[in-house]
Amino acid sequence: MVSWEQLERACAVCGRCGLGRTRTHVVIGDGARESRVMLVGEGPGEQEDLQGRAFVGPAGQLLDRMLACIGLDRGQVYIANIVKCRPPHNRDPLPEEQAACLPYLRAQVRLIRPQIIVCLGRIAAQAIIRPDFRITRERGQWVERKGYWLTATYHPSALLRDPSKKRAAYEDLKSLRAKIGELGLEVPPGARNC
Ligand code: URA
Repeated sequence: MVSWEQLERACAVCGRCGLGRTRTHVVIGDGARESRVMLVGEGPGEQEDLQGRAFVGPAGQLLDRMLACIGLDRGQVYIANIVKCRPPHNRDPLPEEQAACLPYLRAQVRLIRPQIIVCLGRIAAQAIIRPDFRITRERGQWVERKGYWLTATYHPSALLRDPSKKRAAYEDLKSLRAKIGELGLEVPPGARNC
């Protein structure tokens, strides 16, 4: 099994796709490595690329507020992305870029050993759950695979573009909270109702 140090070194010198040539920092992940709850986005944006941390820009700030609504903060989950380097101009990562980067996410999953994986948006859901996953129709549903509980919700950037989706995303997060309880995972008390 690879260690975090081996994973970080491999990502730092990675040339599996072209994204490494235009990025500032590799963004491996953020949050608690001992958490059993993992959130997976699409790829670093501008702020993430500059700071080397996942979900620290406007979408990340909204994600923090939404997690707070169910009594969680990013120190209690682990947040990663399908691709570790920023796609230029925030375009969707290409299928070949996703495929090239997926072994790193698999290594991260083996290191974290999450019981729950929440896909943030279509790109993550199609890479992790099913290639033809329809985010609008299938978000909020749970599937158990190989001992992992998988679900998907809207990407926070989609919520920034269309705030009318926030209510549905909140319902998805409440179901995450319920699943955490059902599995008997540690959660902080006092969820704020939003
Ligand atoms: N969007 C993502 O998918 N991931 C990030 O880390 C930031 C924005």
